[in-house]
Amino acid sequence: MDENKQKKPTVLAVDDDDVNLFMVNSILGPMARVVKKSSGIVALKYLSDHNVDLVLLDFNMPGMDGMEVLAEMRRREETKNVPVIFMTGEIDVELETEVFQAGAVDFVRKPFAPMVLKERTRRVLQNEYLKRNLRDEVAEQTQLAEERLAAHIRLFDQTILALVKTIDAKDKYTQGHSQRVAEYTRMIAKRAGESPARLQELYSMGLLHDIGKIGVPSSIINKNSRLTDEEYNIIKSHTTLGAEILKPIVEFPKLSIGARNHHERWDGRGYPDGLSGEDIPKDARLIAVADAYDAMTSRRSYRGVMEQERVRNEIERGRGSQFDPYYAGIMLQLIDEDKEFKMRSDPVDPDALGFANRVDK
Ligand SMILES: [Fe+2]
Repeated sequence: MDENKQKKPTVLAVDDDDVNLFMVNSILGPMARVVKKSSGIVALKYLSDHNVDLVLLDFNMPGMDGMEVLAEMRRREETKNVPVIFMTGEIDVELETEVFQAGAVDFVRKPFAPMVLKERTRRVLQNEYLKRNLRDEVAEQTQLAEERLAAHIRLFDQTILALVKTIDAKDKYTQGHSQRVAEYTRMIAKRAGESPARLQELYSMGLLHDIGKIGVPSSIINKNSRLTDEEYNIIKSHTTLGAEILKPIVEFPKLSIGARNHHERWDGRGYPDGLSGEDIPKDARLIAVADAYDAMTSRRSYRGVMEQERVRNEIERGRGSQFDPYYAGIMLQLIDEDKEFKMRSDPVDPDALGFANRVDK
């Protein structure tokens, strides 16, 4: 089969005058496949299950006239963008305006000047071809860009996870702490009505909040006995150290805020900046609640998991002193809904006491 023949555009010519249809066919035949229909209704029926590249529409036809056919084409999803050229005997300024307003791309006068019909058809088809090519190209490029973006996001997530593993490797008692804090942070934020993009952001901040522990000696992190003041100060430095580590990620400056300020307290007695109330960055206040919750519901070197009621009491007690009352309130709701105490990482130790005399790392 002739390949060129297959690639020819399809032109649907609609006219109640057979002579006209014959003329269109002989003029456009060399450049297009011409489908001839003798009424608007038959043409619309044809269009409901065939694709065409252009419609040549007679203006005056018995039954449904050209304007009505065009209006129906524009209403239908499958034909709303198919270009239409009107064929008309008489045309004045008023009609000309009407034709364009109705959405036709052009018109040709009858009887045809073969050259004019050919040229106008060729231009419209060429234009359509370019438009379609451009549309395909844009769609292809958009998809490519989306794939690249998704790959970058995956790479970012995986890199973060790799960093998180380095903290876990160092602190044997807080295995999975970062991921759980990230998860609790997301849960609280979701309850607070944050957008999906913000939830993703907060999750990453939660994951990296303790990254500064990389710079704290393992002997101090894993020490079972009471810390000296000096050791405690070294532990505290994981906040500023974390902020320094994350600072080069300038595309995501909040990461370093989460690391720096997650040990601030609502009453101003936290560290490293001693900020209080709403002066503490909002996201850090949120992470602080999630962090404390996980500290109590996971095993530590000096105790097991606290009973749920005790955990609840500790959050309640810290509401408005240690914690932002709003986020602490949400945490309390989450605890109350967790009837079976599933939000914890290890078995409960009935003897485990609260934060008493021990500032959690
Ligand atoms: Fe921390």
